[in-house]
Amino acid sequence: MIEITNPFQSRTLATISDVSLDEIVYLFEKTRDLKEAIASGKKDIIEIFKINDPQFGIYEVFLEDSTRTKESFQNAAKFHNVKFNIFDSSHSSINKMESYADTFNNLIGYDNFIFIVRSKLEGVCRWLDISGKKYALRHNFPALPAFINAGDGKHEHPTQELLDEFTFLEDNGWDRSNIHIALVGDLFHGRTVHSKVDGLRIFREVRVDMIAPPEIAMPQHYIQRMKTNGFEVRIFDSIAEYLAQDNIASKWYFTRPQLERMGENILNRQKELRAKITFTKEYMDKIPQGTGFYHPLPRHKEHPTIPTFIDTTVLNRYERQSRNGYYTRNILLSAIAGKIGADFSGQPFQQPEYVDDFVISVDPGPKKKEEPQEGIRPIQDGIFIDHICKGEPPENIWKHLPLIIRIVGFYDVGYAGVGMSHTNYNVYKGLIAVPRHKGLDQTQIKQLAAVAPGCTLNIIKGDKVVEKYRLNMPPRIYQFEEISCQNPNCISSEQHFEGVLKEFYRDGERTFMCKYCDAPHSFKEIWKTE
Ligand code: NCD
Repeated sequence: MIEITNPFQSRTLATISDVSLDEIVYLFEKTRDLKEAIASGKKDIIEIFKINDPQFGIYEVFLEDSTRTKESFQNAAKFHNVKFNIFDSSHSSINKMESYADTFNNLIGYDNFIFIVRSKLEGVCRWLDISGKKYALRHNFPALPAFINAGDGKHEHPTQELLDEFTFLEDNGWDRSNIHIALVGDLFHGRTVHSKVDGLRIFREVRVDMIAPPEIAMPQHYIQRMKTNGFEVRIFDSIAEYLAQDNIASKWYFTRPQLERMGENILNRQKELRAKITFTKEYMDKIPQGTGFYHPLPRHKEHPTIPTFIDTTVLNRYERQSRNGYYTRNILLSAIAGKIGADFSGQPFQQPEYVDDFVISVDPGPKKKEEPQEGIRPIQDGIFIDHICKGEPPENIWKHLPLIIRIVGFYDVGYAGVGMSHTNYNVYKGLIAVPRHKGLDQTQIKQLAAVAPGCTLNIIKGDKVVEKYRLNMPPRIYQFEEISCQNPNCISSEQHFEGVLKEFYRDGERTFMCKYCDAPHSFKEIWKTE
C-alpha cells in the first residue's frame, strides 16, 4: 500500500512550474534554517532535515557532463545518510537501444525512490514520472519514484532555478516585492534562463532585460510567456548597447555561450558574438553601486563572459550562489523523501484542469438551398463540414483537407473543396460533404475539432440540418496515434522510439505546447503528415 503523508512526497520536478510559489517559499524557509544550522554547527537542527534511512535509494543518472549539479547532489545525498548510487551511463543498456522507461523501471525495482536525471533529451523526467509511477503501482512498491530534472537539453533546469532564486532573495533581504534583472549571454540554448521565465514569478513585480545578439536570443515563445506572466521585458543586442542607456538592472545573470552547437556560420563569427556578451574592464565605471553578477557556472577558461578579475570585487555573487546549490538540493531531497513538509500550510501545486467545452451545439436554422452538396446534388442524409481553416490562403486549405479525411476516417467523401465565404469573397474556407454518413461519435467529434478547429459540423437528415456544432480549439490534444512533437530533441519525438504517450496543451489562442519539452506548435504541426 503506497501512502503519501505530505504534499512534497514522491513529487517529480521536471520544470520549475511543478512547484507552487508557496511551496518554493516553504522550501526556502527550510533552506535558510539548514544553512544557518550548518554555519553555526547546530547538530540537533541539522538532524531534523536528514532522511537517515540506509534503505532509501537515491540514484544519480547523468547522461551529459556536469560538475556543480552532479557533485552538489552527490554531497547532498551523502548528507542524508541514504543508499546512494551513480548510474554508469557509458556502459548501460541505453546504448543497446533499451528505452528510458525500461532502464529506469529496472532501477526502481531495487528500492530507489529519487532519481536525479540529466540528459540531452528534453522532457525525460515528465515521461519517467508517468511510466515509473505506473510501474511502481503495478508492483505495489512501498513508495512511488520521483524524478528531479538536473538539466534536459536546452529545455529547463529547475534545481538551478531554485538556488538562483534563493540567492536573489538572500540578496534582497527576503523582499519578494520586485526584481530588475538582466539576462546576458546565450539565451537561446541556456536552460537556466528558460527556467527563469516561470521561476521569476516568485517576485511580484518583474523587469527583465535580455542582452544577446539575435543569433542567440531568447526564443519568442519564452518572451511571450514572460509577458503573459506580467513581466516588463526589454531587449538589447549587446552589453555596450545596454550600458548606453541609464535604466540598468541591479542583478546581472550571465550564461555560458554554447556556440559550438550552432554550426559553421556562427562559429566563424564567434569572436564578434562573444564580444557582445562579455564583460570588460572599460564597463566597470558604468555599473551602479549595489549591482551583483550571477552565473550558473561553469565559465569558459579561455573566453569567460565574467572575467576572473571580477572574482575579487563586490560584483561576485556567483561563488555564494554556487554554494547555495548544496543547501537548496539538500532540502529538496528532504522534502521529496517526505522527511519535511508535513507543516506546509500554503497553496499547494495544482494540476492544470482542462475543460472540454470546445464542442458547442448551435441552432441549425433553415437549410440553405445551394448547400451542402453531394457532387452537384444537395445532400439529403449525411454530414457536411463547413468553415474549415477559414481565412487561410486557398492552397493551404487544399493541403489540409486530406489530413482531416484521413484522421477522422471519412472513407466515402462526396465532395471536398475550397469555397468562398458568403459574406466576404476574399475569405476562403474548406468544405467536406459525406453523404449517407451515420453521424460522428464523441471521439470522432473531438478528433475533428483537434484537426479542423473552428469548423462547423452539420448533421443532415431527410434534407434538413437537424444538428449543428461549432468546434473550437480544444484545450489539449492527446491520445491520438497520429500526433507527434516536432522537436527532434524531445523524448516524445518519433525518432527516439521511446513509446511516449503524446500530449499537447493549448497556450493562448492557437498555439499548442508539447507536454514534455514545451515546444510550441501550430495545430497543424502536431499532426503527422503521412
Ligand atoms: C548550467 C547547465 O548545465 O545548464 N550549469 C550548471 O548546471 N551549473 C550552465 C552551463 O552548462 O553553461
